Amino acid sequence: MSERCGSLCRRTMHARTESSENMIKTTSPKNLVVAIIVAFIFSVATPAWAADATAVKIANFTFGPQELKVKAGTTVTWTNEDDMPHTVVSPNNFRSKVLDAEGTYSFTFTTPGAYKYFCSLHPHMTGTIVVEAATGSITTQ
Ligand code: CO
Repeated sequence: MSERCGSLCRRTMHARTESSENMIKTTSPKNLVVAIIVAFIFSVATPAWAADATAVKIANFTFGPQELKVKAGTTVTWTNEDDMPHTVVSPNNFRSKVLDAEGTYSFTFTTPGAYKYFCSLHPHMTGTIVVEAATGSITTQ
C-alpha cells in the first residue's frame, strides 16, 4: 500500500517536475517569437506610404493608384499627367470637367464607402476611392 502510493507519488512528482522544466525551457523563446510576430504585423499593418496619400495620378491612360484608401473628410486630388484629356466621373457622386494636360480635379469625401470611378472619354480607365470612417472602420456602400 505505502509502496504503491510511493511510486504513484514519485511518478506524479516526476511528471510535475518535467512539465515545469518544459515550461521554463520553452516559455521565453515562445514569447520572443510571439513578440517578433506581433511587431512584424504592426510594422506592415500601417505602411508609411498609406499615411497621407491623397493624390491620384493619371498617366498612360491609367489612374494610379487604382485603389486609394482615405479617411472620411479627406480631399483627393487627381492630376492629369498625360497629354490627352481625361475626366474623373463617379455617377451620382462626383464628375470633373475635362482635364487637359496638367489639369487637376479635387473632391472631398465625407461619407464612408467604396467609390468606383472612370474616365468618361476612355471608359476602360477605372479606379476606386475607399473612404473609411474617421474612426477607422470600413463601411461599403
Ligand atoms: Co481618359
